[in-house]
Formats: sequence, C-alpha cells, structure tokens
Amino acid sequence: MKLALLLFLVVATTIAAMAQPFKVARPLGLIEPDIPLDRPLTPELVDLGKKLFFDSSLSRTGTTSCATCHDPKFGYADPRPRSISDGGLIQDRNAPSLYNVGFLPSVMWDGRFRTLDDQVLDAFNDNGEMGRNVDDAVSALKSNPEYVALFRQVFNEDPTAENLAAAVASFERTLVAGNSPFDYYLFGENERALTSLETTGLEVFSTKGGCLNCHDVFHPKFNTLGGGLALFSDFRYHNLGVGYQWGRFRDPGRYEWSRDASEWGEFRTPFLRNLTLTAPYMHDGSMATLDEVVDFYNRGGNPNPNLSPSVHPLYLTSSEKAALVAFLKSLTSPEAETVAHDAGTLIRPWYQKATKSNK
Ligand code: HEC
Ligand code: HEC
Repeated sequence: MKLALLLFLVVATTIAAMAQPFKVARPLGLIEPDIPLDRPLTPELVDLGKKLFFDSSLSRTGTTSCATCHDPKFGYADPRPRSISDGGLIQDRNAPSLYNVGFLPSVMWDGRFRTLDDQVLDAFNDNGEMGRNVDDAVSALKSNPEYVALFRQVFNEDPTAENLAAAVASFERTLVAGNSPFDYYLFGENERALTSLETTGLEVFSTKGGCLNCHDVFHPKFNTLGGGLALFSDFRYHNLGVGYQWGRFRDPGRYEWSRDASEWGEFRTPFLRNLTLTAPYMHDGSMATLDEVVDFYNRGGNPNPNLSPSVHPLYLTSSEKAALVAFLKSLTSPEAETVAHDAGTLIRPWYQKATKSNK
C-alpha cells in the first residue's frame, strides 16, 4: 500500500515537472495562431524569449533591445516615425506593431523574410537594428551563466543563433490581439458593443470607403470564404503613393529586392488593430493621426505611375470621415491597453468604454 502511494507520488511529481504546453489565448476575432509543429510553446521557452526580447545587453552598446523600437507602451510599435538602430543609423521605416505577427505568411513591410526567426537573425548584424552580429550576441549569451542555464533547460544545449531566434520568435507568437469592441460586435453578436457612430464607420469602411478590399476581414458578412478571422490584411502588396515626391520614391518598397517593376512603391497591407496605441502610421511613419490617414485616402492617395487602381478619391462627407476614424479606434484590444498601461501609458477613454459595453 505504502509502496503504491510512493510510486504514485513519484509519477505525479515527474509529470508536473515535465514541460507543460503553453496555451496562447484565443481572443474573439482570431483563430489559433500557427505554432511550428517542431517547436511547441512551453512556458519556459516563452519566458526565455521574453527575457531576450527585453534585454538590451544583447546589443553592441548595451542600450537597445527589441522593445526599444517595439515598445509595449505603444502596442509593441515605435512612436518615432523612423527607428534608430543601436549603431545610431536612422532606419528606413517605422517599426510596426508586433501584435498578431504569428499570423504573418511573410515578415516586414516588403515581406522580405519568410519567418519570424529569419527576422531575428537579420536584426543581429553590424548595420542591423541591434548593431551587432549574431555570433557576438551568442558569445555574450554563452558567457552569461544565467542564460547558459536557461538555454540548457529549454533546448538541452548552449546558446546558438538558431535557438536565440527560436526563443524570441516563440515569445512573439504569444502577442495576440482581438477582443476589441468591434470583435464583440461582429463575432460576439453584441450590437451594443459599438456606438452608432462606430457602426456608421464600419459601414463606410466596408462600402463607400473600399477599405475592406485590402484590409480584409474573414467573416461570412464580408467575405465569401467566411471564417472567423479579422486581421484587416489581405497579405498583399499595394502602392498608395506614400513617400512619393518629385517623381521618385524615397523607399521603393517591395521593388527594392524583387526588382519587379510592377511592385515599385508597394508595401504589405498592415493590420489595423490597436491603432490608438501605434501612431505614427504608414511604412515611413509620415502620418501622425488617423484623421490624416483618412484625409489621405479621401483625396485618392498620392498619385504616381504605379498607384493601385483600388485607391481613388472617395468623396466622403466630414461626418463619414469622423465615423471612419471612430471605427478605426474601436479596433483596440482591452488587453493591449492593459499591457500599455502597465508599461506606463495612460489608459484612454475608449478603453473604459470597451470593457464596459462588453459586459
Ligand atoms: C532600431 C529599432 C528596432 C529594433 C531594435 C528592432 N526592430 Fe523590429 N523592426 C524595426 C523596423 C523599422 C521594422 C520595419 C522594417 C522593414 O519593414 O523593413 C521592424 C520590423 C519587425 C518585424 C516585422 C513585423 C511585420 O509586421 O512584418 C518583426 C517581427 C520585428 N521587427 C521583430 C523584432 C525583434 C524580435 C527584435 C529584436 C531582436 C527587433 N524587431 C528589433 C525596428 C526595430
Ligand atoms: C489598395 C489597398 C488598400 C486600400 C483600398 C486601403 N488600404 Fe489602408 N493600407 C494599405 C497599405 C498597403 C498600407 C501601407 C502603405 C504604406 O505604408 O506605404 C495601408 C495603411 C493603412 C493605415 C496605416 C496603418 C499603420 O499601422 O501604419 C491605416 C490606418 C489604413 N491603411 C486604413 C485604411 C482605411 C480607413 C481605408 C479605407 C478608406 C484603407 N486603409 C484602404 C492598403 C490599402
């Protein structure tokens, strides 16, 4: 009898000590994120990735971490129009929010990387965001006993470039955002979750404004494919003319590496969640407010030889424009607001509304 009890205790504690799967929350508006089969999330792996993400000692000068430019206070985006690398180089582009990056089929404004891991490896090069090549970053990790112990616990080996990338990417996959007032309205079928101004804005977004053509929502109401996923992107590349001046693009976008003239000035359709936290907007951070963005679309983007045929003057009235802006603000997740608040940003009035109307 005693032996059976002892055996039971041994088995039970062994099971408890084994890695438990990490469950990514599935908020309203999203499906399960794609987690690589050969690398299931565990709490230890995600914690290690998080620690690395926030650790500025990985950079050359010791002052830059991923979070310097992807700041949780600002929805894991950068309030500076263009980020500055650890080496002091002004980056070409605005750092996008990292919420829902686990759903991306390709990474960066121009989609030049296949996977999140590839992006991490690229951030570590002498001219890259972290100002230091990955071998030096890995040597620094190897000389830090705390990290060596953590990598051994998670990967059964010492730090390597691949493991560093795998851990950071795994943390990124846990950054999901849904549950916004819009999600409660559409997926939760709670008509009171949006104000009448916001529902008018949704109407403009999906009809007269033509926004849904590119900022796609998979729901039977809007898309014949149906489904329950609202990421507000078609994952395709379009030219709106942002940054076009004096007959040229400062940043040729996807053309820069595809060398396909039809992709000149094209950038990937960005997600539209948490916009209230992630200003400024567009690949070059050139628009400070959502009113500016809506005015830009209303006048038909910035005409240039490769302008997308879906971008043309919209003739919206001022009340339609105001409704559209109100709708865009309803795409903020209370969870993202809480993370921003805990990291030091003041909670905005619409956060209060989002939580109240959903009860
Ligand atoms: C110096 C500022 C800076 C630092 C540090 C930085 N990033 Fe970025 N990040 C950017 C900018 C700017 C872009 C957009 C670049 C582009 O599209 O060409 C970007 C893009 C990304 C993207 C693509 C998102 C999308 O929507 O396609 C991911 C993912 C990402 N960064 C993760 C990281 C991780 C992980 C780290 C740390 C290893 C990191 N970044 C460090 C500025 C930074
Ligand atoms: C032809 C496809 C297309 C249409 C139509 C479209 N968008 Fe966009 N949207 C994009 C692309 C591509 C970008 C990024 C462009 C860039 O930075 O050069 C973008 C950027 C944005 C941004 C900035 C997001 C950020 O994080 O920086 C907002 C906000 C936005 N669009 C809202 C709208 C609204 C509102 C409408 C309807 C009036 C609309 N879009 C119509 C493709 C489109």
